[in-house]
Amino acid sequence: MTPVGAPIDANEAPVRIEDLVKHFGRQRVLRGITLSFPRGRTTVVLGPSGCGKSVMLKHLVGLLKPDKGRVYYEGERIDMLSERRLAPVRRQFGFLFQQGALFDSMTVAENVAFPLREQSGEPPYDEEARVRYVLRLVGLEQMYDRYPSELSGGQQKRIALARAVVLRPKVVLYDEPTTGLDPIRSDVINELILKLKQQLEVTSIVVTHDLISAFKVADHMVMLHEGKVVLEGSPEEFRRSEDPVVRRFLRGEASEEELRAIRSVGATSAGFGGAI
Ligand SMILES: Nc1ncnc2c1ncn2[C@@H]1O[C@H](COP(=O)(O)OP(=O)(O)OP(=O)(O)O)[C@@H](O)[C@H]1O
Ligand SMILES: [Mg+2]
Repeated sequence: MTPVGAPIDANEAPVRIEDLVKHFGRQRVLRGITLSFPRGRTTVVLGPSGCGKSVMLKHLVGLLKPDKGRVYYEGERIDMLSERRLAPVRRQFGFLFQQGALFDSMTVAENVAFPLREQSGEPPYDEEARVRYVLRLVGLEQMYDRYPSELSGGQQKRIALARAVVLRPKVVLYDEPTTGLDPIRSDVINELILKLKQQLEVTSIVVTHDLISAFKVADHMVMLHEGKVVLEGSPEEFRRSEDPVVRRFLRGEASEEELRAIRSVGATSAGFGGAI
């Protein structure tokens, strides 16, 4: 396992991207990103809203294809694979989506079992044991027979997390796992990220702009800005960074440019056609 803060050996990084470029129409979202995600460690990807964090994550599992650049899983190039050849690679990944929606018409147990059935076409003989195991991991076994509408937002996230790990993935991707949760529920998710790393020995990639969560779970950090990597390093290197983009982000300050854009628009009734 890569020691915290040490340079990353390519062999010790199951997931790697090289020179990743992605445009949507004329919008250039990723502008040449090269990153390695160290084995058995948690990498936190920080960056302002809209900078391409979710787009980057989707490339790791082939949900988006790069315009340029390469994506590797365990040394194998995966960005060119057909859907059929991608399927076994995808099974190595658990993905907690930003909109981690559960199926409303299914019970918690059915939701969690869904990937098991999808994989084999029919329930595996040990389905209930596996579902109960991951529900215990997230501390919600008692919700086995409930429906998602009976759960709080934080509990729904935990169920989505149980579903993301039920196939025993090697890599878990978390897209904004604490967004919309109060500080206590957020901390439950943080603890779960730490626990899953230890118990399942997974490589974790966490996209977030929740700084408390970031510093609690990160072994390694990356900051994206305007489609590029601004800084990659240990949490300590981030705290010490003199880079103005990193410092502003960590302090939660808007840039001069952003402030100018807001100040240039006067909030007067005239702007609303005199309606206020
Ligand atoms: N499928 C798509 N088609 C067109 N544009 C897209 C698509 N997916 C993302 N984008 C655009 O790419 C940009 C980056 O989106 P992305 O979702 O990666 O942002 P993000 O960094 O995850 O932001 P947030 O922190 O708000 O989740 C946005 O401007 C978005 O509108
Ligand atoms: Mg996002």
